Amino acid sequence: MKELSLDISSNSYTPYSKKPESCLILGSSGVVYPGVRVENISFPLTIAAVQAGVCSCLGNGDEPVAVMDGKSNNDGLSEYWTQTFQLKTLDRLPDDSVLYDPLIDGINDVTNQLKNLCEKSVSDRSGFPVSALLETKDGYIPGVNIEFEQWNLGLCAERVAIARAISVGFNEFKGIHIYAPKSEFISPCGACRQVLYEFMPEQVAQLHHDDDSKSRHFVSHLLPNGFTTNSLKK
Ligand code: THU
Repeated sequence: MKELSLDISSNSYTPYSKKPESCLILGSSGVVYPGVRVENISFPLTIAAVQAGVCSCLGNGDEPVAVMDGKSNNDGLSEYWTQTFQLKTLDRLPDDSVLYDPLIDGINDVTNQLKNLCEKSVSDRSGFPVSALLETKDGYIPGVNIEFEQWNLGLCAERVAIARAISVGFNEFKGIHIYAPKSEFISPCGACRQVLYEFMPEQVAQLHHDDDSKSRHFVSHLLPNGFTTNSLKK
């Protein structure tokens, strides 16, 4: 097996099930996108490993062509993507594969970056592109919204950024920037508020509005009286 097929299962965020899951998605460009399971205290918001990898791939303008399991996936959802994209199953990666590095450093104009990033959104069904830049200590991780024919399997831009970041090993975030050109006042959806709360309750979400104004909100203020109990930890 090629060196590139690193064990990324330890990047999984599975404090509730304690069952790490990961995969590598090969794009038609030869780039390999890691995907790990990202759980949430609200269990139904959990992102499956294949979902994370496929959304990362599509959100980079690439086409998923094959999947390689780092660790067996028990999410029961893999079949949807395997069939939709007719993914081949690989036990080793092609020799010319390159690991996807989502980090963008040295951004001068975050709004401009968000605007450009929107072009990677896969949102033909809603016609509503969204982009997000998640700030880490090393730079920004991008995310765009990804839609599938099966609506409930798509991910918002914020969650693509989170899943991508966690899949490549980040688990601490300094803030997030969000932009949606078709919205007068962009406001993250309830599910994203819950997911952001899981990872960065004390950080700020900066919303970049259509008229170039911005508003800044503590994530904890975006989710008053949210579902945050620790008592579900098994
Ligand atoms: N969407 C986001 O990407 N972020 C949000 O916070 C709100 C909703 C996306 C999801 C879907 O692709 C489209 O907007 C319409 O719901």
